[in-house]
Amino acid sequence: MNTQEYEKRMQWYTEARFGMFIHWGVYSLIGRGEWVRSTEQISIEDYQPYADAFHPSAFDAKQLAQTAKNAGMRYAVFTAKHHDGFCLFDSRLTDYTSMHTCGRDFVREYLDAFHEAGLKAGLYYSLLDWHHPDYPHYGDRHHPMRADPAYRNRKHDFENYLQYMHGQIEELCRNYGPLDLLWTDFSYDDLRADAWHGEELVKMIRRYQPDIILNNRLEASGEGFGSLLEAEPKITSGDFVSPEQIIPPKGIRNALGEPVPWEACITMNNHWGYAEDDHYFKSSTMCIRKLVECVSKGGNMLLNIGPDGEGRIPPESERILDEIGDWMKRNSASVYGCGYCPIDKPEYGRITAKENRLYYHVLEPMIGGIPLTGIRREDIGSIRLLYDGRSLPVSDTWITGNYPDLVFTDLGEDPDLPDPCDTVIEVTLKKRKFSE
Ligand code: GLC
Repeated sequence: MNTQEYEKRMQWYTEARFGMFIHWGVYSLIGRGEWVRSTEQISIEDYQPYADAFHPSAFDAKQLAQTAKNAGMRYAVFTAKHHDGFCLFDSRLTDYTSMHTCGRDFVREYLDAFHEAGLKAGLYYSLLDWHHPDYPHYGDRHHPMRADPAYRNRKHDFENYLQYMHGQIEELCRNYGPLDLLWTDFSYDDLRADAWHGEELVKMIRRYQPDIILNNRLEASGEGFGSLLEAEPKITSGDFVSPEQIIPPKGIRNALGEPVPWEACITMNNHWGYAEDDHYFKSSTMCIRKLVECVSKGGNMLLNIGPDGEGRIPPESERILDEIGDWMKRNSASVYGCGYCPIDKPEYGRITAKENRLYYHVLEPMIGGIPLTGIRREDIGSIRLLYDGRSLPVSDTWITGNYPDLVFTDLGEDPDLPDPCDTVIEVTLKKRKFSE
């Protein structure tokens, strides 16, 4: 791996920290998640009426881009094709596309709108394909027809599928202008790097899109990390690790002990694709705190929305994104470009760091001042509350005097935190740098 090129292409991504995942497709019409064909073992024929009915009236890429932007997200990843094989783009290699159901190329609409809004835009592409006849079916771990006796003796030609899959990824890389990120999903059992002809695939992708960022799922899934963690990553390693529905306890490091970029993808409720009955949404407070947790451990957060079959964002998600946006408007300095901080997590919250700035995220009110752990008084240049920009003192009282090794600051008379979700104190140090 060429380290210089790698660091250059990763720059916007590690700076951005916060992105939007968008899971949307024919399955959104059914409203039981994007795996519905597999979990309910639905045949292609029984799925077809939904594909035929896929002409979403409310999908508005521009509005979606605004929603992401207002929430403080800096990039997005949109499902060009999920495991059901239905394509939201214009493909010459199949009729199983939104072009055929409603004459719309949603990938183009999405990429144009997000780029116009100044956001980075990536695509999700499923390596699995439950529609293509040459994808392993009977006996496969996930295929909807895995147990259907009618499929037992059906031959399939995997090489033919690979040509199709490479061909489609080539279409996406060639026909849509600059693509910032490609999120292939996912490897399992014997189907990993070599089986996908991964090396050839990555070379082709980078030929069209030299600056594109790739995830690690040509080698792994949410399970496993792939060769990106080895001292010598393979060409198929991808550029970042993609923990799913978990925030790695201590961030992620490679075999040499160096931090590796990662992105936790997280659902807002308990599904990626639209799920009508799933109203277990995380609160905006939780989403904000989890974003901060990711950043404090050197990672990104890709927060998912699953629009319904018409393309409407669930109202709960709208509200959550709105509330996250309110917080981000005051506090995004503690997120963008920030990362891991070697000071231990303070008991009241977390710390994110950017060069000589430390951001103390106070999640719990304290009695007797807020200890700014890990620094010395003489290192401090200034202290500021991001909530309203006012500067804060170093507190010198007889109360704190018993703890001469700690520096305290003081938020004033009100015992409540100005922002009960996360009150951020920015400390600018005179010189010491903290971030890696
Ligand atoms: C999983 C699932 C998939 C989802 C993805 C997001 O691998 O198969 O439905 O798109 O994770 O991380």
